[in-house]
Amino acid sequence: MNILIIGNGGREHTLAWKISQSPKCTQLFIAPGNAGTALCGKNVPIEVTDISGIRQFCVDNKVELVVVGPEGPLVDGVTDAFRNEDTRHIGIIGPSAYAANLEGSKAFAKKFMQKYKIPTAAYLEVTRDNLQEGISFLKSLSPPYVLKADGLAAGKGVLILDDLGDACRQLLEMVDGKFGQASYKVVIEEFLDGIEFSVFALTDGVQYIMLPEAKDYKRAGVGDTGLNTGGMGAISPVPFVDKALWQKVMQRIVEPTINGIRNEGMDYVGFVFFGLIRVGDNPYVIEYNCRLGDPETEVIIPRINNDIVDVLMAAVSGQLSSIQMDINEDAAATVMIVSGGYPEEYSKHKVILHSDEIKTSLVFHAGTTELGGKIVTNGGRVIAVTTLDPDFRKAVKVSLSNAQVIEFDGKYYRSDIGFDL
Ligand code: AMP
Ligand code: GLY
Repeated sequence: MNILIIGNGGREHTLAWKISQSPKCTQLFIAPGNAGTALCGKNVPIEVTDISGIRQFCVDNKVELVVVGPEGPLVDGVTDAFRNEDTRHIGIIGPSAYAANLEGSKAFAKKFMQKYKIPTAAYLEVTRDNLQEGISFLKSLSPPYVLKADGLAAGKGVLILDDLGDACRQLLEMVDGKFGQASYKVVIEEFLDGIEFSVFALTDGVQYIMLPEAKDYKRAGVGDTGLNTGGMGAISPVPFVDKALWQKVMQRIVEPTINGIRNEGMDYVGFVFFGLIRVGDNPYVIEYNCRLGDPETEVIIPRINNDIVDVLMAAVSGQLSSIQMDINEDAAATVMIVSGGYPEEYSKHKVILHSDEIKTSLVFHAGTTELGGKIVTNGGRVIAVTTLDPDFRKAVKVSLSNAQVIEFDGKYYRSDIGFDL
């Protein structure tokens, strides 16, 4: 069958690498892809925002399965567009725009969690109309204060502030459009003090299967310092996620979430990414995402032994209960090599050397492209180096030594992935 992956990051290269290994995949297309996905299939120059272009491409090229990588097209309704006449028969991994509100609107997600009694931080929804109530709520909390833009804000919409005055000022600025329309509505949350991890399900809206859990490292600097990024590295499995914690996650969070999705009648065939925090011995939801994580995918997918096309097709056809997941017990660690300056200003089109010489790790391209026969940088996050080993510390070590081999002007990576485990 012909398959299309939408996106151009490390997540999409990892999916392309895995899907291209399936004997069920006749032709793999990636829109728009990167220099790494070009090694697994055919890149097609269609942007992820071009929903009608994507749909037309699928009709013209007899695509039978579409895997949506990033959240943007989901929130914009790519799945809904595929439910129309001539593309109705095409399987698509990714929820409808309404269901994608679980990621696209913090207020929607909080209401959902409240309705289905899913443990999460106490909160209040604030707009210009109830600012005073918002300020009183802030005063009732102890620091630090958590303010979240309701809508998608390119990962920048969450502020965590120590000072009450600062929090009140930022709240005012947010409802006035500090993050544009995304922050006209703000969710104020109680701060949860704990350690974060993520679990992932694939659902058809009724049944679901679990994928391996992961922990990512979001801050740019060693020791979890500096600015938030999309993710500088990840580990799977997460050593502190033992049987008891996993059971609580399943009973208190995953099952009620999938029940909620079913009960609300959401059109949800796709991945559910549960961003969790362990406080004491108990898990709470920090956020939902309606897709796989990046760089979490770079450690989850390499641990799956199943033919991934079988798994994805089971979701599309409502037969997930027939799938037995076969997970490699080895740990996976990924180290993200980024452009100097990321997540702020960085330069592009630096020539990348030696990325094809790595033998002991998997090399997943993120922000790369081909220019004049050379592979060059094309984004902040450039290449993820993933290693599998029974010992996650050894896996990190091998990834780091291979990250040293890959060269480009201004490269940077965190040398301490997994330091807190
Ligand atoms: P979010 O976009 O909701 O995942 O928030 C981004 C990051 O902010 C999370 O990964 C956490 O590190 C932090 N965060 C968000 N909400 C809370 C909270 N209620 N308590 C503590 N930290 C939080
Ligand atoms: N690594 C976090 C995310 O994909 O949202």
